[in-house]
Amino acid sequence: MADATLRVFRGDREGGKAVDYQVPVTEGMVVLDAIHSIQAHQAPDLAVRWNCKAAKCGSCSAEVNGKPRLMCKTRMDALPLEQPITVSPMKAFPVIRDLVTDVSWNYKVNKKIPPFQPRPGVKWKMEQRDVDRVQEFRKCIECFLCQDVCHVLRDHDKKEQFGGPRFFVRVAALEMHPLDGLDRTRLLKEELGIGLCNITKCCTEVCPEEIHITDNAIIPLKERVVDEFYDPVTMIV
Ligand code: SF4
Ligand code: F3S
Ligand code: FES
Repeated sequence: MADATLRVFRGDREGGKAVDYQVPVTEGMVVLDAIHSIQAHQAPDLAVRWNCKAAKCGSCSAEVNGKPRLMCKTRMDALPLEQPITVSPMKAFPVIRDLVTDVSWNYKVNKKIPPFQPRPGVKWKMEQRDVDRVQEFRKCIECFLCQDVCHVLRDHDKKEQFGGPRFFVRVAALEMHPLDGLDRTRLLKEELGIGLCNITKCCTEVCPEEIHITDNAIIPLKERVVDEFYDPVTMIV
């Protein structure tokens, strides 16, 4: 196969620039392989975060040709190789170096969410359909690609007011768990700012685990917030 040109961001918090590297493309190659080839033969100091190379650890998130993707799940032969392939760090988070971003803000949001708390005296028995419903949300690999693509964080940087789709998925897993006894709707409204989501569904489109983030997590959670805080009958009662 022909060579490809990878246009890779090189830099840090202070700034940087895109640098072109020629990489021989081999059969079955993914973008992460191409980055490793650059590290091995041309730029040993190129920083990239990865771990499993199996689309399961969520570490190798970046933007390939401007789209948030897992580098280890993006095949080179699915890209237009006649033009340079751009590889840049996630835009919604501060760059540490090259393709590595600081995603620690996400862990701070995570700490705001009270964990599973079983209702007192509950019988530990669940219907299969309830298991299936929360199982989808448990597939999240915390790649933060949904956080990266959501315009509320990416373009408006509302990190103080908005938790982001990944954490709506986490709250959905807890709120829809039939044995859980907590109510997190006030948290959703006031601290995680679910009202700022205007259902663009970009998060769902980029999720490598194909979680139906908007339809199955965000919209039902928004309905719960509306029922609790804005339903006129409830307000009168
Ligand atoms: Fe990644 Fe999907 Fe989890 Fe978002 S919901 S962090 S896109 S796996
Ligand atoms: Fe953002 Fe997803 Fe809502 S992309 S605006 S959280 S539907
Ligand atoms: Fe683990 Fe890509 S290296 S998801």
